Amino acid sequence: KKSLLVDKFGRSLQDLRISVTDRCNFRCSYCMPKEIFGKDFKFMPKEQLLSFEEIERLAKIFVQFGVKKIRLTGGEPLLRRNLPQLIEKLVAIDGIEDIGLTTNGALLEKQALPLKEAGLIRVNVSLDSLDEERFKSINDVGVSPERILRGIKKAQEVGLEVKMNMVVKKGLNDQDVVPMAKYFKKQGVSLRYIEFMDVGQSNGWDFKHVVTKKEIYEQLLQHFQLEPIDPSYIGEVAKRYRYVGSNTEVGFITSVSESFCSTCTRGRISADGKFYTCLFAESGFDLRELVRSGATDDDIITEFSPTWENRGDRYSDERTAETAKNKPKIEMSYIGG
Ligand code: GTP
Ligand code: 5AD
Ligand code: SF4
Ligand code: SF4
Repeated sequence: KKSLLVDKFGRSLQDLRISVTDRCNFRCSYCMPKEIFGKDFKFMPKEQLLSFEEIERLAKIFVQFGVKKIRLTGGEPLLRRNLPQLIEKLVAIDGIEDIGLTTNGALLEKQALPLKEAGLIRVNVSLDSLDEERFKSINDVGVSPERILRGIKKAQEVGLEVKMNMVVKKGLNDQDVVPMAKYFKKQGVSLRYIEFMDVGQSNGWDFKHVVTKKEIYEQLLQHFQLEPIDPSYIGEVAKRYRYVGSNTEVGFITSVSESFCSTCTRGRISADGKFYTCLFAESGFDLRELVRSGATDDDIITEFSPTWENRGDRYSDERTAETAKNKPKIEMSYIGG
C-alpha cells in the first residue's frame, strides 16, 4: 500500500539521501576545515548511528511514501564498516529503482568490487583538481589525484556507472575548470561543476567565492562546442550538456545562480537518524528515537507524515548575504550534501 506525501508546494518525496557516517578521511578546507574538525572534534559515537537493520526498516517505510531513489552519503560513506551489507539490504527492497553513492574516492580502488557485487549501480566521485599540489592542499590530508583516478578506473572496470563532481571555488581551483573538462571528456566520463554553497556554519562562504555556471560555461566555450540535453526527469539537479560530436556529458549544479527548489523532491536522513527537509535546514525530525521506542510502522508513518506535508523549504530561492552568514544550518559533513 502506498501513502504518497506532498508538501506545501506540491512537491512529492521521491529521493532519499542517507548519510551513513559523519566522519571523513579528508579535511577539505571548504567543508571540514582542520581548525574545527581537529583531533578533539567529537564525532557521533557508534551507538548513535542508525544500524543497517534500522536503515533498512526506514527505507521500506519511505518506499511506501513514494521514494524510488536512494543515495548513500557521509561524511565519507566508504568509512562505514561493512557498507556492502547495507547495499544488499537496500537493493532487495521492492520499489527501489536506483541506488547510488557519493564518495571522495580515496577508498574506491579497494571497495569498488564488493560494492558492485552487493548491487550498487552508480557512484558519484568528488575531485576538485588534477594538480598534485593543489589537490593535496584542498583535501588537506595529502591524498594525490592519482589515487582517486585509480579508484575511478577500478569502478569502471567492475561495471559501476561513474560521474564526477567538482566544487569550484574562486581563488581555490578555478584554474582547474578546463583541465578537468579535457581530462574527463577524453575518458568519456560525465563531469558536473558544483557552485560553491553556503552549507553549514564553518566554511566561511561569501558570494565572492562563487564561480557561477555562466562563468564556467564561458570558459568551456573557449575550448569546446556544447549542446544542451533535456532533463532526464523533472527536478534533475544538474543542468546537462553534451560535447558536440560525442556522447560525453558535462553538467552544472547551480544551487546559487539558478536554484532548483521548485522541483526539489529530496529528503535527507543523517547518520544519527534525523530527517531533514532541506540541505540548509537547522533541525530535523528524530526518526531514530521513534524507531528505538518500539513504534510500529504505522506509528512511524503517522508521526512522520506532517514533517513532509508541512515542508515549505526553498532555501536556495531565498538566499541572501544575510541568511548565508547568519541562518543556522547543519554541516555538510553531517548531512552529506
Ligand atoms: P544524481 O543526479 O542522482 O547522480 O545525484 P546528485 O547529483 O543529486 O547527487 P550528488 O551527491 O552527486 O550531489 C552533487 C551536488 O549537488 C552536491 O554538492 C549536493 O550537495 C548538491 N545537491 C544535491 N541535491 C541538492 C539539493 O536538493 N539542494 C542543493 N542545494 N544542492 C543539492
Ligand atoms: N558547496 C558545494 N558543494 C560542496 N560539497 C561539499 N561542500 C560543498 C559546498 N560548500 C560537495 C562535495 C561533494 C558533494 C557531495 O558536495 O565536494 O562533491
Ligand atoms: Fe571533503 Fe566530502 Fe569529506 Fe567534506 S565530506 S571533507 S567535501 S571529502
Ligand atoms: Fe531542496 Fe533545500 Fe536544496 Fe532547495 S535548497 S533544492 S529545498 S534541499
